[in-house]
Amino acid sequence: MDKSLRPAVIAGNWKMNKLRGEARALVEGILPALAKADCRVIACVPFTDLETVLEAARGSRLHIGAQNCHWAQSGAYTGEISAPMLAEMGVEYVILGHSERRQYFGETDATVNARLKAALASGLRVILCVGETLEQRQRGITAPVCSMQVRSALYEIPEAAMGDLLIAYEPVWAIGTGKTATAAQAGEVCGLIRDTVADLYSGRVAERLCIQYGGSMNPGNAAELLDQPDIDGGLIGGASLRAEEFAQIIQAASR
Ligand code: PGA
Repeated sequence: MDKSLRPAVIAGNWKMNKLRGEARALVEGILPALAKADCRVIACVPFTDLETVLEAARGSRLHIGAQNCHWAQSGAYTGEISAPMLAEMGVEYVILGHSERRQYFGETDATVNARLKAALASGLRVILCVGETLEQRQRGITAPVCSMQVRSALYEIPEAAMGDLLIAYEPVWAIGTGKTATAAQAGEVCGLIRDTVADLYSGRVAERLCIQYGGSMNPGNAAELLDQPDIDGGLIGGASLRAEEFAQIIQAASR
C-alpha cells in the first residue's frame, strides 16, 4: 500500500500534566518546530488547558485535541465533558479508548464505540487507541485482541466517517515504561490493523487510514518506527511534555 497517500501525524498526549502557565510555555516551545515540519502535529491536552492552548496556538499549524469525551450530548453525568462542548470551543481532535481509560476508568469496547459515534457526530476527529496487554502478548493473542478492539470500536461507523479517524496502536506494556515495541513488532500489528479496516470497509479506506504507534516513542527510536511501511505517525506521552524532544520527533516524521 502506498504510504505517500497518508500524511504523517505526530500527536502529543499530555495526559494529566501541565497547569495553564506551563501549558502555554510548552506550546510556545513547540511552535518553532512547526515552521519546518512536514507532518501534521496535534497536542491533546487536559480539559482545563484547552482554552489556553487554543489561544496560544491560534494562527499556527498546531492542531488541538482533548483526551476523552462522553457519549451523550448532555445530561446527568457528573464530571463528564461532551463532544459538543469540545466542538464549541474549537477543539478539533479527541483521543478515545486510551488504555489508561480502559484500565483505570472502566472503559469498554462498547463505551469506546458510543463515544466514537458521539465525537464524529459533533464533527470531531478521533484518535482511537487500541493495544494488547503484556499478558495477552505472552499468550500469543495480540492479533485477535487488537483486531477485536478495532472491530468493536468501529461498529456501525459508516465509511464516510473514516476520513475523520486515526488509529493509534499502543501496546499497553510499552506505555510509560520505557519499553518500546521493536519497529518490526509495532509495524506488524499496525499492518494487521490496516488489514482489519480493509476487511471492514475496503482497501481504499485502509490505504488512506493514518495508523500511529504509541508507547515510549522518543527521539532515539522515532525514525526507525516511522520508517515502517504501516506506521504513519506517533502518539507520544512522556516525550511530548518536553518541547525539545517533541520537536525532534516532529523532525523525524517530516519526510
Ligand atoms: P508514552 O505514552 O509515550 O509516555 O509511553 C504514550 C501514550 O500513552 O499515549
